[in-house]
Amino acid sequence: MSTEIEERVGNLLSSSQDTVSAGTSSSTSGNSAKLSSKAVETAKLKSTIEDDTATKRLNVELKQKQEKTRESEKVKAMISFREKLPAFKVKSEFMEAVANNQVLVVSGETGCGKTTQLPQFILEEEISSLRGVDCNIICTQPRRISAISVAARICSERGESLGDTVGYQIRLEAKRSAQTRLLFCTTGVLLRRLVQDPDLTGVSHLLIDEIHERGMNEDFLLIILRDLLPRRPDLRLILMSATINAELFSKYFRDAPTIHIPGLTYPVEELFLEDVLEKTRYLIKSEADNFQGNSRRRMRQQDSKRDPLTDLFEDVDIGSHYKGYSMITRQSLEAWSGSQLDLGLVEASIEYICRCEGEGAILVFLSGWDEISKLLDKIKANNFLGDTRKFLVLPLHGSMPTVNQREIFDRPPANTRKIVLATNIAESSITIDDVVYVIDCGKAKETSYDALNKLACLLPSWISKASAHQRRGRAGRVQPGVCYRLYPKLIHDAMAQYQLPEILRTPLQELCLHIKSLQFGAIESFLAKALQPPDALSVHNAIELLKTIGALDDTEELTPLGRHLCTLPLDPNIGKMLLMGSIFQCLNPALTIAAALAHRDPFVLPINRKEEADAAKRSFAGDSCSDHIALLKAFEGWKDAKRYGKERTFCWENFLSPVTLQMMEDMRNQFVDLLSDIGFVDKSRGAKAYNEYSNDLEMVCAILCAGLYPNVVQCKRRGKRTAFYTKEVGKVDIHPASVNASVHLFPLPYLVYSEKVKTSSIYIRDSTNISDYSLLMFGGNLTPSKSGDGIEMLGGYLHFSASKSVLDLIKETASGTG
Ligand code: CDP
Ligand code: MG
Repeated sequence: MSTEIEERVGNLLSSSQDTVSAGTSSSTSGNSAKLSSKAVETAKLKSTIEDDTATKRLNVELKQKQEKTRESEKVKAMISFREKLPAFKVKSEFMEAVANNQVLVVSGETGCGKTTQLPQFILEEEISSLRGVDCNIICTQPRRISAISVAARICSERGESLGDTVGYQIRLEAKRSAQTRLLFCTTGVLLRRLVQDPDLTGVSHLLIDEIHERGMNEDFLLIILRDLLPRRPDLRLILMSATINAELFSKYFRDAPTIHIPGLTYPVEELFLEDVLEKTRYLIKSEADNFQGNSRRRMRQQDSKRDPLTDLFEDVDIGSHYKGYSMITRQSLEAWSGSQLDLGLVEASIEYICRCEGEGAILVFLSGWDEISKLLDKIKANNFLGDTRKFLVLPLHGSMPTVNQREIFDRPPANTRKIVLATNIAESSITIDDVVYVIDCGKAKETSYDALNKLACLLPSWISKASAHQRRGRAGRVQPGVCYRLYPKLIHDAMAQYQLPEILRTPLQELCLHIKSLQFGAIESFLAKALQPPDALSVHNAIELLKTIGALDDTEELTPLGRHLCTLPLDPNIGKMLLMGSIFQCLNPALTIAAALAHRDPFVLPINRKEEADAAKRSFAGDSCSDHIALLKAFEGWKDAKRYGKERTFCWENFLSPVTLQMMEDMRNQFVDLLSDIGFVDKSRGAKAYNEYSNDLEMVCAILCAGLYPNVVQCKRRGKRTAFYTKEVGKVDIHPASVNASVHLFPLPYLVYSEKVKTSSIYIRDSTNISDYSLLMFGGNLTPSKSGDGIEMLGGYLHFSASKSVLDLIKETASGTG
């Protein structure tokens, strides 16, 4: 290598005379083509060699810098910490395997150092062997928050600032520079990069983390990479997995070698519901008499008797270790999946730990945001922990704004108990160092998809054994810990080994759009190459939906609308609503409704004050016959109240969740950034420019229709009442929580709805009454009509065509065949 450079430097010296003279002559007189081509050649060579020398200098500098930082006391301490991690023991084996194989699968217990150490080993080695400048390592994370926290952690291990050698990039946020050699990004960011750069030019190492989670993006990426590897023989691919199922991935990549990192975690004591009840009961009994909250406690005792598990075995004495659970079967497990968690039991467990156990943070796993916010409110309202100043209660959820998330990792002030209320986001990708107690409720919100009825649900269901194992492991990171499982051992035994991969239980429209934007050809044949391919009906439904909303044309190619939707990392229907909102200057309502659709609505349903809550919601809706308008008015009311610092009272009086409203506000800002990113919103024009028609309820309903189509039911009069019909499943009912549940006759003939759910019957949730004109004009395709009979809008940017599907639908439903 060095002799080659010397040789080329020698050549440069000998030809430098030519260059100069050639340059001079060209500037003075018209010189020969031969001379000038030689000059260009030499100039090129010169710049290559200069580049080479510059590269060499930079490589040396990089190495020196790395060596220098390693002398600092802080970094030294970090190094000795890192050397104790299990990953360190396999370092040479790992580096050798990376050098000799294109694909490698690494598995190991959570906390063994996969995410923070393996990419760092590669980085350090490359820098030490003076290849630092040319190495370009990318490590993907399934979630935004882990990409940030891991990058930050590695920087502090290396004594560098974030965005220097190590950086991160997530949607709409990045800390990276020209110096960045190791980049953490979300899987979504990498997928979007592939649109521009299908060969991942310049990437030397690609690490895909948390593949055991089998997220849809990760499964999708694996298909792409398997095709890419032969084109990029120099690219190294490393798959990292927490649990044992490594063989599956190894097989997918033609029996790629695997390395297992043996765990070194502290022992974690495991308590099941039986034991937890015993403990918390003891607390209640022994202290009840000399404690003020006597009656409340008794209530809680009754609360825990209302636990659905208990209901099923009414005659079994709770104290005697839930003998009845020997009857638990897989079916009964599934039957309970939808049931509510007993938050009283969670509260009692937290209280028990705070009172009776030693120091250490508590990590509570809950199924979703609603449970987190309920528990948060409960803890704050009850003040059951005594002096709340000594407790730091922090929510942790994937869609939280990134800034607040950092608090989670910081150690709390002295004498303060940190309590983190998290979803399964904290299961394997996020490390909270000081956790000693884990409370596991055993559930996670899981999407499921019923392709036959085209029903998608997001419901809490029992986690898998693999997840339960992960959760427990979070307690034993720095010292021995305890895991409180709020379900009996027999439920644990009946849990599935692994969770079903996301690609098999989610609607596929967003994925299909992505396949088209990456120009992978026919959707079906592409998806057939997946690790576990989705079934044909699900794929068909997704393609049909994309055609119906006008994102794909008849030949399954992207339409202009489809191309715009691809650039929004959102469900295509929600994306369409946002685009239409900005085009039709009705942006604020579109943002608010989209935020509620992408997250959840802010209405809370208190069990004992249900009627008052319903009335509050109805008063927001006025006579609009619309849950979406109710939502809009509630949000606007909250914004007004906030201006006067009255938002707490406003929420309390109107049965609204302040946490959800705040979350919606944050999401709205994110959406505006997204729209401005793709040129649909120009922030410099101010909000007014996009809200000319935001107070026009008819326009709002039209935009709703554009976003929610083809979720349409026809309202048919049956005497003094109305019956509702959809095209796919026939008769449906309106969900009791909807403002439309109490409406007998509707002024307009159709309803658009957000989702249908199947419980005792098929219900449509939030709905809005719309006219046939809205449906006709905004319902179907917005594709350029090839025959030219469409209505052209926005200078040919979008065309309106009263597409056949809309007319068909109107005719069919009107004639009663729907
Ligand atoms: O990826 P894996 O679960 O194997 O482990 P990791 O995330 O690389 O973490 C390895 C160790 O680094 C953990 O056990 C923590 O002690 C420490 N760590 C930390 O203190 N703070 C972080 N933000 C991340 C990791
Ligand atoms: Mg990890």
